[in-house]
Amino acid sequence: LANPQWGGRFASGPASIMSEINASIGFDKKLWRQDIRGSLAHAAMLQKVGLLTAEEEADIQRGLAEIGREIDAGTFPFSTALEDIHMNIEARLSERIGEAGKRLHTARSRNDQVATDFRLWTRDAIDGLRGQTAALMRSLATRALEHHATPMPGFTHLQVAQPVTFGHHLLAYVEMLSRDDGRLEDARSRLNESPLGVAALAGTSFPIDREMTAKTLGFDRPTANSLDTVSDRDFALELLSALSIQAMHLSRLAEEIVNWASAPFGFVRLSDAFTTGSSIMPQKRNPDAAELVRAKIGRIAGDFIGLLTVMKGLPLAYAKDSQEDKEPVFDAVEAMTLSLAAMDGMIRDLQPNTERMREVAGMGFSTATDLADWLVRELRLPFRTAHHVTGRLVGMAEEKKIDLADLSLGEMQSVEPGINATIFDVLTVESSLASRTSFGGTAPSNVKTQAERWLTSLESA
Ligand code: ARG
Repeated sequence: LANPQWGGRFASGPASIMSEINASIGFDKKLWRQDIRGSLAHAAMLQKVGLLTAEEEADIQRGLAEIGREIDAGTFPFSTALEDIHMNIEARLSERIGEAGKRLHTARSRNDQVATDFRLWTRDAIDGLRGQTAALMRSLATRALEHHATPMPGFTHLQVAQPVTFGHHLLAYVEMLSRDDGRLEDARSRLNESPLGVAALAGTSFPIDREMTAKTLGFDRPTANSLDTVSDRDFALELLSALSIQAMHLSRLAEEIVNWASAPFGFVRLSDAFTTGSSIMPQKRNPDAAELVRAKIGRIAGDFIGLLTVMKGLPLAYAKDSQEDKEPVFDAVEAMTLSLAAMDGMIRDLQPNTERMREVAGMGFSTATDLADWLVRELRLPFRTAHHVTGRLVGMAEEKKIDLADLSLGEMQSVEPGINATIFDVLTVESSLASRTSFGGTAPSNVKTQAERWLTSLESA
């Protein structure tokens, strides 16, 4: 049978494989709320400009409300023959309310309809993800304040480099997440123009009011070019690219948690709620949630590249290729929603082993830079010379298998005669941390200020 919505010029229906490749109802039913919202706004506008009577509009409102209840209740008869959510809802509306339902598609095409629905869905998704991002930032900043003075090793090349505080490390991720939030906010602001009323590709001859529908749907303004509007999926790509970067950040934090929770590091213990056991090794506590968050970048970045590739080379205006826009976005949003929730749970529950972190913070001659800085400050050695002197002292300590602080004054003076006993004051982890007071540095006093600043700004967000 020919499609009831567009079958007028068709003698027979599509091949079954045609229906199968063509239909999007399997995934775009997710847009049903947005589709109903868009139709309500469109109908109100049609009534205002005289294309629908007040009675017809009231029928449409009632019919769409009933359809919403049917979908919610799981009793809506979704049909693959009706291709997508737009025609499923519209056909059902006509079935329920007759003539008025058939008038709803005046001055509208599925091309502006789907663009509108999808923008609304994407906007809601962005709002949800921004809320979750703020929640994770809050959890990180709370733990950072709690641990603003807790020493841990800072690494470069995964070699112990200089002591930092655990709070400082956590706040590094708050900075990343705040840039992620900025990208989401930016994507949202550019997304927020209404496609509704550009119709198939060229606009319409009906005296519609696009300002009105834009306003009803919470858009800042209508889009300005009908050809661009029906073909544009930048809003989806912007979200996917922002999420790719955010997923990369979460992947890095997840990797650190996996490392920290391993026995050789022993820096943190994950809660039972965020670990799994092994079916063979009774002692195991596996960080599966962290590993899965670490992995989600794979599918999210894949979703971005997938849609980017779909859009590449599409001529103006609409082409069915762009129906392939939805699944990557749905997939990435779901993956990010899960990742943010799991990461938030892990961070809240995480128990740092502060003794172990303190111990490793002092390993590997981590205060060697402090020693070199002392030589510059107290003896006015040029930094390069101080670096060389310190290198020799480290070599000496390494040979004797002792820490820098355990070298005797005499041993130190054999390398640099100007050294006196006050040098020992700068060789502890605590003194090193306390000295890093330059703006953005890891001194506990700085970290406390920064954590409090974040918590205050997140409160008002
Ligand atoms: N399901 C379609 C999509 O997602 C709706 C638009 C169809 N438009 C058309 N001219 N066939 O893009």
